[in-house]
Amino acid sequence: MSDYSTILLSTRGRVGWITLNRPEALNALNSTLVEELAAAAAAFDADEEIGCIVVTGSERAFAAGADIKQMEDRSAVEMSLRNPFVGLEAFSRVRTPVIAAVAGYALGGGCELAMACDIILAADTARFGQPEITLGVIPGLGGTQRLPRAIGYYKAAELVLTGRMMDAAEAERAGLVSRVVPAADLFAEAEAMAEQIAAKSLPVLYAAKESLRASLETGAAEGLRFEKQVFTSLFALDDQKEGMAAFREKRAPRFTNR
Ligand code: CAA
Repeated sequence: MSDYSTILLSTRGRVGWITLNRPEALNALNSTLVEELAAAAAAFDADEEIGCIVVTGSERAFAAGADIKQMEDRSAVEMSLRNPFVGLEAFSRVRTPVIAAVAGYALGGGCELAMACDIILAADTARFGQPEITLGVIPGLGGTQRLPRAIGYYKAAELVLTGRMMDAAEAERAGLVSRVVPAADLFAEAEAMAEQIAAKSLPVLYAAKESLRASLETGAAEGLRFEKQVFTSLFALDDQKEGMAAFREKRAPRFTNR
């Protein structure tokens, strides 16, 4: 687990932490970082002892985007045949809930990485944006799709077309961010939220995330059908019986992830 060069990993209780660690480039996403991030998330995802993943960066930057210096001279053919960011798709499909704990810059691919997570918790220092237009490209890791879904077409269009940044308070008002906390409290707040999630039944967390994700990928009618099927199937779990019995008996549930 510690053979990674661009990320740091740790586990606290049932929470797996991934800290982006390329301070010299404000955590810009190069191919190594994306590969390592995907591998680390997949390893946590395969571990039944982990019920929530937190992805974070440094005080100065969550991630300042895709690595411009690595991409600059690539041809269209190279970008297509050896896309340095393919790992982000795998990352966005992990079953385990993922919290992005964002301080400082979350720009371009950094904002898109945050949006590939399930919950975005922001320090009051966080700044979000999709500045790709100023580089002569467009967002390439989901920004033109996930941002309009998160904050609405018109505000997303303004951000993508102007490339301007928004601060944490604006991001919260727009609905991108669940909560803004003082920078000094970011990790403690992320940990508390992650622990609250990780205490739930793992198969039920997977089901909830999969059903939430369907809302991003399907129309409402198909999504509602999907949700109904998943909801019904959960009655096959011991944890459903336990959760409801615990409610009736006025006690905390003891989930076994079965
Ligand atoms: N790629 C590569 N290196 C980056 C980087 C990036 N995205 N962002 C910052 N860095 C590097 C800088 O080049 C600098 O390195 P040197 O010291 O070797 O010059 C170092 O990180 C520190 O950055 P700055 O000196 O620029 O720090 P600053 O505080 O003055 O500015 C910033 C901070 C406003 C975030 C500025 O660094 C910046 O604008 N970064 C680029 C943001 C951006 O355009 N992101 C989108 C990338 S494209 C993309 O993401 C495409 C996609 O969707 C797939």
